[in-house]
Amino acid sequence: MDVFHQVVVDQLAEISGKSPETIAPLIEIPPQANKGDRAVPCFQWAKEEKASPKVLASRWHKMLQSQGLPPEIEKVEAVGGYLNFFLNHHFVASHVLGEIRSHPGSYGYIQLENPTNTVLEFSSPNIAKPFSIGHLRTTNIGAALGRIFEARGHRVTRINHLGDWGTQFGKLISAYRRWGNAELLKDHPIHQLYKLYVRWHEEEISDPTLIEDAREWFSRLEDGDEEAKELWEWFREVTIRELKTLYTTLDVDFDHYWGESFYTGQLLSVLQELEEKKISKKSDDATIVDLEEEGLAKCVVRKSDESSLYMTRDLAAAIYRQDQFNFDEMIYVVGAPQRLHFQQLFKILEKMGHAWAKKCEHVAFGHMSFGDEAMSTRKGNIVFLSDVLDEAVALAQKIVEEKNPTLEDKETVAKKVGLGAILFADLSSKRIKDVRFSWDEILTFDGETGPYLQYSLVRAKSILRRYDKPIEPEVPEGTLQKKEEAALVRFLSRFPSVLAKAEEAREPFLVAQYLVGLAKTFNKFYTVHRILDAPTEEDTRARVLLVFAYADVLDTGLRLLGIPRPEQM
Ligand code: ARG
Repeated sequence: MDVFHQVVVDQLAEISGKSPETIAPLIEIPPQANKGDRAVPCFQWAKEEKASPKVLASRWHKMLQSQGLPPEIEKVEAVGGYLNFFLNHHFVASHVLGEIRSHPGSYGYIQLENPTNTVLEFSSPNIAKPFSIGHLRTTNIGAALGRIFEARGHRVTRINHLGDWGTQFGKLISAYRRWGNAELLKDHPIHQLYKLYVRWHEEEISDPTLIEDAREWFSRLEDGDEEAKELWEWFREVTIRELKTLYTTLDVDFDHYWGESFYTGQLLSVLQELEEKKISKKSDDATIVDLEEEGLAKCVVRKSDESSLYMTRDLAAAIYRQDQFNFDEMIYVVGAPQRLHFQQLFKILEKMGHAWAKKCEHVAFGHMSFGDEAMSTRKGNIVFLSDVLDEAVALAQKIVEEKNPTLEDKETVAKKVGLGAILFADLSSKRIKDVRFSWDEILTFDGETGPYLQYSLVRAKSILRRYDKPIEPEVPEGTLQKKEEAALVRFLSRFPSVLAKAEEAREPFLVAQYLVGLAKTFNKFYTVHRILDAPTEEDTRARVLLVFAYADVLDTGLRLLGIPRPEQM
């Protein structure tokens, strides 16, 4: 509980006779400033107090008034069953700014005595199929969630469930043996493997022997055939190597690259268990789990040719992870089209008697596309992430060149701006929404964009650089009382609760949205008030501290979202 909650709880507990433990969880932070800093809904006590919430609120309000408020509370209002507490401004400012100044980079972070043990699966691209925009979303959302969870005291284990097993490898081996070229593959594995995969599908139309060939190769692979295994290993290795460069660019890291292939040794025992527990049954030559009664359709866990399946590998993976980590929660960041798959997965786990199935959660997201059609059609229907990133950087370079021709190292800045634009656009609406954006929109410096925030941060930092004294953590008495100053302090004070909500809803978007509001609030302050040459020395001291706090919280927020922060722009 933060100090602001505490003050309110103490006061109300004293006059109402309710225990602090019952009051604390009810406290709300009103969305609008005119409703105060903290609000307590009185609805829950109406019955036991035999009074309407409205009457109760005004009764307690009167008692608070006649007892006299402590210096931390400016005033209290009773409005429609709510008690709205307005905190003393100096008290809030001293606390928030002092806290940020003394813990830079971690305002709003908490430490739990028993950290939540979270397994977070995200990214999970497929070998032979390109790393698409959808994979950018899982990577970006997953990485942001991981960092937000850590800020909220979780211990996070990051897993990349690579699509590195399955019938596509039969096709790929078959294709490579016919048309492959080792040199090309070495240089651009992701594109080359994809090309082979596409060609195989094209030629299959006129050559019916291909399907047999592919089936044969996958079955050889599952049986451990040397040649098949060697090719598979090679495909996998070169792909991971290329992926890792991409992950470095995006600044994400995994604890484990446990792809689907990792679980092949555990599939048989899963299938056996399903059979023994009478969860699965034979249907034609395949083995299925019938979830029709649960409204989740039938799902195949073993095909007639005995080859294993995506679902079976997911079952094995979940069981293995529970074994390894005994997690408190396991989160799968995967696109919305796979919703049914995860519902089925969790249901089967539950039927197997795994109570921990309810700790598994599918964090879904919508589709992302570009207003610019040229981009999405250049390579058929697939958009390669690397092309998108290149495009973003090229466009950013032009803008940077225009805005600040004398800037040093424009290339590095353009990289950060281009990347920031895309990543921020991806996180700036609820994850489940489909996002469609245009390059112009996401790259502008004065919309609700990544570059806008990056630019605002650069500006704030440049003010701080020009201040040649140490930045003191104390707020001088009587300062920061102006409307725009107070508004910024209040906005900063919300950051911890935004992190809490983002964690709870699994929504990095809430942080993105907050940062845009914060930057706008800063802008209003910045355009109205002088900072380094403020009316009094106290004002300057206080305002510099305020700018410091703003820069720090913005920096932290952007870092949590994975948005790079250039020093200059
Ligand atoms: N490789 C899959 C794809 O790209 C996503 C894997 C999701 N994770 C899982 N455990 N099934 O569509």
